[in-house]
Amino acid sequence: MKTASSTISFVLGNEMVNLDLDDTFGNTPITTVLNFLRSRPGFTGSKEGCAEGDCGACTVVLGSLSDGQIAYTAIDACLVFLPMLHGKQLLTVEHLGSSSDLHPVQSAMIKTDGSQCGYCTPGFVMSLLALYKNHNQPSKEVVEDALTGNLCRCTGYRSIAEAAALSCNNEGKDHFTENEDEIIGLLAHIHKAGIAINTDKHQYFRPASLSEALQIKKSTPEVLLINGATDIALRVTKLKEDLPAILDLGNVPELKAVGMDENGYYIGAGVALETVKEMVKERLPALYDMLAVFGSKQIRELATLGGNIGSASPIGDLPPVLMAYNAKIVLASSDGEREIPMRDFITGYRTTQRTELEIIKSITIPYPGEHIEVRSYKISKRKDLDISTVSGGFSIGRDKDGLVTEICLAYGGMAALTKRAARTEAALLGKAWNRKNIEAAMNLVDEDFEPISDARAQAEGRAVMARNLIMKFWTDTMR
Ligand SMILES: Cc1cc2nc3c(=O)[nH]c(=O)nc-3n(C[C@H](O)[C@H](O)[C@H](O)COP(=O)(O)OP(=O)(O)OC[C@H]3O[C@@H](n4cnc5c(N)ncnc54)[C@H](O)[C@@H]3O)c2cc1C
Ligand code: FES
Ligand code: FES
Repeated sequence: MKTASSTISFVLGNEMVNLDLDDTFGNTPITTVLNFLRSRPGFTGSKEGCAEGDCGACTVVLGSLSDGQIAYTAIDACLVFLPMLHGKQLLTVEHLGSSSDLHPVQSAMIKTDGSQCGYCTPGFVMSLLALYKNHNQPSKEVVEDALTGNLCRCTGYRSIAEAAALSCNNEGKDHFTENEDEIIGLLAHIHKAGIAINTDKHQYFRPASLSEALQIKKSTPEVLLINGATDIALRVTKLKEDLPAILDLGNVPELKAVGMDENGYYIGAGVALETVKEMVKERLPALYDMLAVFGSKQIRELATLGGNIGSASPIGDLPPVLMAYNAKIVLASSDGEREIPMRDFITGYRTTQRTELEIIKSITIPYPGEHIEVRSYKISKRKDLDISTVSGGFSIGRDKDGLVTEICLAYGGMAALTKRAARTEAALLGKAWNRKNIEAAMNLVDEDFEPISDARAQAEGRAVMARNLIMKFWTDTMR
């Protein structure tokens, strides 16, 4: 095993930066990339709007080595802790171009009048940069998806979308392309060992293997696990917590493994949701549909499957649909591995069957049998970048006579945990899948849940949504 280091290294533009995160000069292991940039002379272009991933004003682009090339992704700098940059290239609006030598996305923004007050503009142009590097002549849907995580209060989005269409037509070629070999050389020289930072106030581990991660969990069980940190970073930026001990799983290759065989998918807990979304589009459409309305692209590039399941939030979008697909969770500890059905994994409000010494290693999702249909639904005030008021992951199997042989109706937002509508399921099992039986079952949903009222909806509103989702499921699956 290589020795862990307390120094992090990354390439800022084309300059190698080595930082000792020993709490000196104001940089701690939980300093966000946004705060680091804005405290550095000449790097105040990235803006802070919300500090919680909702506005995109802080958008920067990360370059990561992938198969000998650099893959570019837009992320929210307000949600990223400095050690998460180790081994990567960080591009900010300052690297994009200058007033005498504009990048194509900047020129296009000027031509289409894509900026007024300008506060959101650095974030938008960085999202446009990631789009430019990854898509040639993108469709309207791809452009809209790339810009979902950026808010503008004054220009209006049409001219910004026009700037995307105008600029993204040069197969990603720009001044970054010219420097790519040099950057690949710099990134290749950054050490691959784990990171272990120990200061008077903070412990931050970023191991480079699963066995290393499990050993740390065994010797320091109280460490807080993070992966994408899109949930946990808010404890620092909004709640002002000073997290004393973190085990960052973002550099564990075993957690990034993916595979498919004749039975289904194997997805490592550390795989980014944007990757999962693209992987499952054909074979697991209900999971794809939910991921298509999950956060924004910036969030999905950071957030992981393991983090969504691990947070066990009652309004987490993926547990209901994973329950519907009858996914299995693989937990690993230094004593070995065990598998638990997703349907049994969550035990209460943000509690699960995972013990303190375990981490979520992977998720296996079987293809549904030919006689099974799966759907997912998310009801929220906005289509994009919003939290579910009520969500559903539903599956149904029928025999040749059309009678229900198996059923799973898993709801988010209706209880303190993701919960199946057990009475409703029992009432429908063995019955014909017809309107009369559905209407009778809809009333039973009220007995399955006692929803709460909150800022998103009143309890009665939630009950109506839950009932109507069953009718929607029926209309989507009747034949
Ligand atoms: C702007 C914004 C929009 C969002 N939109 C949505 C949305 O539409 N739908 C939705 O469901 N959520 C949403 N979220 C919440 C969050 O992005 C997701 O829950 C995400 O999947 C968390 O993944 P992560 O890797 O970032 O988790 P982290 O923040 O790293 O961790 C989350 C929790 O999981 C635990 N954990 C992480 N990895 C593991 C592991 N391998 N084993 C065990 N425990 C682990 C952590 O200890 C922590 O308790 C949003 C968040 C933000 C900031
Ligand atoms: S400051 Fe709003 S997303 Fe980062
Ligand atoms: S130009 Fe003013 S917020 Fe977008």
